[in-house]
Amino acid sequence: MATPANPRVMSGMRPTGALHLGHYHGVLSNWLRLQSEYECFFAVVDWHAMTTDYADPREIGPNVWEMVIDWLAVGINPGQAKLFVQSRVPEHAELHLLLSMFTPLAWLERVPTYKDQQEKLKDKDLTTYGFLGYPLLQTADIIIYKASYVPVGEDQVAHVEMAREVARRFNFLYGREPGFEEKAEAAAKKMGKKNNELYHELRRSYQEQGDAAALEKAKALIDGYKRITIGDRERLMGYLEGGGKIIFPEPKVLLTPAAKMPGLDGQKMSKSYGNTIALRENPASVEEKIRRMPTDPARVRRSDPGDPDKCPVWNFHAVYSDDGLKKWVQEGCRSAGIGCLECKKPLIDAILKEQGPIRERAKEYQDDRDSVRGIIAQGCEAARDVARKTLEEVREAMGLSYR
Ligand code: TRP
Ligand code: SF4
Repeated sequence: MATPANPRVMSGMRPTGALHLGHYHGVLSNWLRLQSEYECFFAVVDWHAMTTDYADPREIGPNVWEMVIDWLAVGINPGQAKLFVQSRVPEHAELHLLLSMFTPLAWLERVPTYKDQQEKLKDKDLTTYGFLGYPLLQTADIIIYKASYVPVGEDQVAHVEMAREVARRFNFLYGREPGFEEKAEAAAKKMGKKNNELYHELRRSYQEQGDAAALEKAKALIDGYKRITIGDRERLMGYLEGGGKIIFPEPKVLLTPAAKMPGLDGQKMSKSYGNTIALRENPASVEEKIRRMPTDPARVRRSDPGDPDKCPVWNFHAVYSDDGLKKWVQEGCRSAGIGCLECKKPLIDAILKEQGPIRERAKEYQDDRDSVRGIIAQGCEAARDVARKTLEEVREAMGLSYR
């Protein structure tokens, strides 16, 4: 059970091909940190890839496995986090369908990525039902695990906002079971006389004086009471705030700090700009790419002094080099004391060193596909156990448990 004492984290990535250093120094380093702090669910969202690649989906399959290998190679730990493939937890699709019944079309149409992506991916016809529903499928991904936190970049904030609104609407529509108040009162009594009184006192402080600290205290009180059923917990939480049952808590964004890692040309590292170094790029190609990196355009000849602030190579030093090395670059560049190839050499070394263990671990998994399949099978099972339970509750709340 996800509780504030044991919050869940959920995130997903579309299987679009080999991950690169931008992913590593942004999203993945964040996931590595989160996996030891929270119960994490990390999904390969292949259905989301389908929304844009439906005309030519054959690449999705191979990309799924390459991405999982990339995750494992950087140290995402299947003993800690649950790694799974979205389409193998079909409950996501069922929840998506059920959510679609009450989600206003206007909510989907006004999500900024809807129009933006249609503009950006002009070569694809994205005037489809599936693409419009992209954020709602993402909502299902998140709330099916009752996740408290969703680590995503700035571009995904509107999607998590959508998840919050849909969760709230679900609770509003289906959290009002017959006899709700009586059931909530009965649940409070089960906590014992003292806790029951405390609960009511805190509830009053919150509802009459808007005392937010009292609300938090009451939530902690409920969480501290371990012998409670899920239904009673949802009733007590909802009753506290003056609504019905809170079946879906509202997820919060955990904003991923923008990747420190720029691309080879100084822009953001992104496949669409063709300025990436893959996580498992072969060493000769890494060397070649760094050697060809543009430098301060004012530095035409070796004897011309340069300005690191106008050079993408300096941005790489900012990520990879220690203070001594940085000083050497700053001084050497401005005085024309070092040449650009000389300046790039320690970066080649640093990147190759960083990639060494990643490449090695990836190789082990590439040579042992069965173990990768096994890891995903286990992650899918664990995710499914949670998803199944949520769907049972959802069907019950929506009056669909007559089968
Ligand atoms: N839309 C996300 C992206 O493009 C991927 C995604 C799908 C996701 N489902 C999710 C992210 C659930 C976080 C949580 O990056
Ligand atoms: Fe860039 Fe280094 Fe050349 Fe200066 S010396 S222009 S920082 S590559």
